[in-house]
Amino acid sequence: MTMNRRILLAKRPVGLAAQTDFRSDEQPIPEIREGEALLKTLYLGIDPTIRTWLSTAKSYLPPIEIGEVVRSAGVCRVIESKCERFKVGDLVTHLCGWQEYSVCTEDSFATLFPASTNPRHTLGPLGSTGVAAYAGLLYVGRPKEGETVLVSAAAGATGSLVGQIAKIKGCRAVGIAGSDEKCRHVVENLGFDACINYKDDGFREALKKACPNRIDVYFDNVGGWILNEALGRLNMGARVALCGAISVYNEPKKPPGPANYLNLITVRGKMQGFNGMDHWGKHAEISADIAKWMEEGKIRVDETILEGLDEAWRSVNMLFTGENIGKLLVYVADGVTEP
Ligand SMILES: NC(=O)c1ccc[n+]([C@@H]2O[C@H](COP(=O)([O-])OP(=O)(O)OC[C@H]3O[C@@H](n4cnc5c(N)ncnc54)[C@H](OP(=O)(O)O)[C@@H]3O)[C@@H](O)[C@H]2O)c1
Repeated sequence: MTMNRRILLAKRPVGLAAQTDFRSDEQPIPEIREGEALLKTLYLGIDPTIRTWLSTAKSYLPPIEIGEVVRSAGVCRVIESKCERFKVGDLVTHLCGWQEYSVCTEDSFATLFPASTNPRHTLGPLGSTGVAAYAGLLYVGRPKEGETVLVSAAAGATGSLVGQIAKIKGCRAVGIAGSDEKCRHVVENLGFDACINYKDDGFREALKKACPNRIDVYFDNVGGWILNEALGRLNMGARVALCGAISVYNEPKKPPGPANYLNLITVRGKMQGFNGMDHWGKHAEISADIAKWMEEGKIRVDETILEGLDEAWRSVNMLFTGENIGKLLVYVADGVTEP
């Protein structure tokens, strides 16, 4: 009998995750019932939110319990089906978790993609990352042509899309990233107008130089002191779209409030958090736009791929040490339909 290899949470990480925070086991592949489909995991999408689920912090989904399979999005192939919605061979993204096989129900939060879609793109630009970048920028940030859009974690999965969409919309795109190499990549390969290495001294001066007309839209992926600096350089009527705060996810305590929030009063600015999932109803429309831009060569997609379920725990840390460029994925199996 083919077994299902799984990675379970053994204890809650403190700071960066350690291998001993996880354990693996093997279980028989589950039998499916009426209304269910059996899926084989192809790739896992490694998102910073996984780190929040590993803790007891309040989030939009409950913490992963000790002994549970680590929750994670993934792209899977349907290999057996007893439901109308999923046919054998279909490509489906859902919260499959860190395991080789998963069961999906008709009513679960799963998205079908044409079998010909690049499976990796269903987790990145054509999936939840694309929706967060597009909806956060265009529906929350609402940039107008000629405005300055600043985005942090600019070489990452979400930030790289945000800056490229800002350019498509005729804005000045300014990135923030953690190394000179990433900044070069953001400007030379992704087409941003400027990029600031936040690890260098003189961040405030560099921000001033890169945003001479101040900031109209700040797309925040990192929170912390960088959010505070951006708040201090807003233009009149600026919009701040709060996407995430990766600089604080590993911290045991809540961060201090950004003192520069008072500037929102001066500039009559707006700061709004959002969750890409709230815009999932527009997924088809959003991914059609992004797919078209990719085809036209206006959006470049970068990926960092690790091999094998055993690498999953290490990959989460890479988001915090900045070792990824673009979407971070773990390869689990190829796309064949047989178990
Ligand atoms: N609201 C939503 O619906 C939604 C959806 C998807 C993602 N998100 C959020 O969006 C953000 C980006 O997610 P992603 O999946 O696209 O990840 P990502 O940007 O591909 O990877 C995370 C990047 O964050 C940077 N980083 C790590 N620690 C940092 C720190 N202390 N200060 C500044 N930068 C730091 C690293 O790049 P450097 O080398 O540049 O430091 C790293 O590559 C996260 O906060 C995530 O939670 C929100």
